Amino acid sequence: MGKMYLCGESFHTSMAEKSKGLGLETTCIHGGHKGEQHRAHLTPIYATSTYTFDSTEQGVSVFKGEEPGYIYGRFGNPTINEAEEKIAQLEAYGLADTNGEPLQLKAILHASGMAAFTTLVLGNMKAGDKIISHHSLYGGNQELIDKIFPNLGIETIIVDFHDLDTVAKTLKDNPSIKLMHIETPANPTLQCVDMAAVSALGKQYGLIVTADNTFATPYLQQPFKYDVDYVIHSTTKFLNGHGTAVGGILIGRDIDKMKTGITKAHRLLGGNSNAFEAFLLTNGLRTFALRMERHCANAQKVADFLDKQDSVSVVNYPGLTSHPDYEICKKQMKHAGAVLSFELKGGFDAAVKFMDKLQLCTNAVSLGTCDTLVSHPASTTHVGVAKEDRVKFKITDGLIRMSVGIETVEDIIDDIAQALA
Ligand SMILES: Cc1ncc(COP(=O)(O)O)c(C=O)c1O
Repeated sequence: MGKMYLCGESFHTSMAEKSKGLGLETTCIHGGHKGEQHRAHLTPIYATSTYTFDSTEQGVSVFKGEEPGYIYGRFGNPTINEAEEKIAQLEAYGLADTNGEPLQLKAILHASGMAAFTTLVLGNMKAGDKIISHHSLYGGNQELIDKIFPNLGIETIIVDFHDLDTVAKTLKDNPSIKLMHIETPANPTLQCVDMAAVSALGKQYGLIVTADNTFATPYLQQPFKYDVDYVIHSTTKFLNGHGTAVGGILIGRDIDKMKTGITKAHRLLGGNSNAFEAFLLTNGLRTFALRMERHCANAQKVADFLDKQDSVSVVNYPGLTSHPDYEICKKQMKHAGAVLSFELKGGFDAAVKFMDKLQLCTNAVSLGTCDTLVSHPASTTHVGVAKEDRVKFKITDGLIRMSVGIETVEDIIDDIAQALA
């Protein structure tokens, strides 16, 4: 009995196996689920810091990776494992490897999106190596590459990923660039990067190509289609979907590397997740596909509404034909997603007034929760940033960011309308 428990095996058929060839919604619900010895319907919250061995010999074998099993909470546990396998299956959904076999990916859950990015970079790079990336990365990641990684000898070159000639020239001139990082769509204008074109260029120069898929999620776009090596997410957002836990995930296609160098970096850097937050994530993922469908349908309607308002000068949503990256979005995303931003003609005062008049939509940072979240970067997240610097990144005084929720869309629009009035 002990052995069965330790190996994470089940007397139920593994749904990880069964879910091959099943639908996306089914994968959201059953993917990665293994059952457990007491026949609990849902994988319980394994609130234990350590795991037992039948014998010293067996302990050695688990430590060496010769037999599967759990060892210590920082390394993982069955609750965490279910979330990891489910997300790996979603990112690989319907994709094939170079032999035409279903693509296999390995995911490692982290305490936050920031921790996942840290493991990704420190697990792959050393002092002297460089990163190439683009403008408008998530602020936390931008600060990490600006303020922390340079102290370790890892510098980042930022270029416009829409300008492929400049990207190519930068790669040619800088042989120490080892990793290319893409975030698409990205704040605040929902700029999209053409993953097929940019990743192909990165591969031409032998780079490790990575993508932050937080805004789009695997429901809308699968970076592994474009030869990307690693995908990261802040699972805090649409994957969890309910705003109940902070988390991050790192998913890789090189299974051996994931099991060795990346696992080592994850364990030693200590950015592990925990059973409770993994449980909340898995539970949120069960309705992920349904939620995304509604999030996107609502967002398109909200964007169309905002686009017609006299008090709004611009709506940044890649599902509108007016968005500069409309064609890129159409090419690589199933739908334009559920995050948008818009600019009020009245500037700072109009934006503050708008925020304060909202009754249904929630004034909060973050995104991807069931309810509509609205934020005014100039008075909150970017209040300490000099106006000239803010504006350079298009975070203007009148800019409002909105993560459109799954409420009845007429209610969201009515609330926006009364706040604009
Ligand atoms: C695109 C993106 N990547 C990464 C992160 C960091 O994730 P976390 O806050 O879960 O650490 C965020 C957070 O907002 C994000 O929006």
